[in-house]
Amino acid sequence: MSNKLVLLSVLALTFVCVALANKPAPLQDFCVADSNSSVKVNGVTCKNPMQVQAEDFFFSGLHLRGNTSNAVGSKVTPVFATQIPGLNTLGISMVRIDYAPWGLNPPHTHPRATEILTVLEGTLQVGFVTSNPDNRFITKVLQKGDVFVFPVGLVHFQQNIGNGYAVVIAALSSQNPGAITIANAVFGANPPIPSDVLARAFQMDKSLVDELQAKL
Ligand SMILES: *[C@@H]1O[C@H](CO)[C@@H](O)[C@H](O)[C@H]1NC(C)=O
Ligand SMILES: *[C@@H]1O[C@H](CO)[C@@H](O)[C@H](O)[C@H]1NC(C)=O
Repeated sequence: MSNKLVLLSVLALTFVCVALANKPAPLQDFCVADSNSSVKVNGVTCKNPMQVQAEDFFFSGLHLRGNTSNAVGSKVTPVFATQIPGLNTLGISMVRIDYAPWGLNPPHTHPRATEILTVLEGTLQVGFVTSNPDNRFITKVLQKGDVFVFPVGLVHFQQNIGNGYAVVIAALSSQNPGAITIANAVFGANPPIPSDVLARAFQMDKSLVDELQAKL
């Protein structure tokens, strides 16, 4: 083998190993979540395959607009393994997100999923921030039909920058992506994070920390 071929083979093998390390291939056609099982595993135990029905792979309701009458002006409608038991172990899920005019899906991260989003209606400014030490803000304005990716674990947001209504559909690479909204996790923790910790971390006055904690 030429050196180039060896290098290519090693590269190919590395990609295969990385792919396997990230998400193991399923060991059966499906593993529909058995909501009655009390056994704790990484995911949920499987329902008897002979009792599996089409309903286990089905959800209805993503045509319905979410209620955006809240402090941030957005609403996420999830379709995770909780909503579709058949998603258990498959490493994929979906959401609908509605935005009131100028509504915001505030900065948050999904600890277990990359997200790919497409705009069905409206104009959104979206962005994410890279890891330390760069913390580079990568942002773009999206129109109807545009698609954008938020890499796993990175802090990201979407804001409706129009006077009209906006809606997106997004897919996530986990049956249960998880969401950590930064403002709520930091200033709305229960019980609260000591205010001197936050005052020092954010280099701000303790009174301002108290105000934010009271709000969240
Ligand atoms: C859970 O148990 C209830 C009552 O026995 C039964 O009706 C239901 O079908 C079970 N669900 C699953 C997912 O097996
Ligand atoms: C939307 O949510 C607000 C605030 O919780 C509530 O007052 C209102 O009734 C809801 N509207 C609908 C149509 O459900």
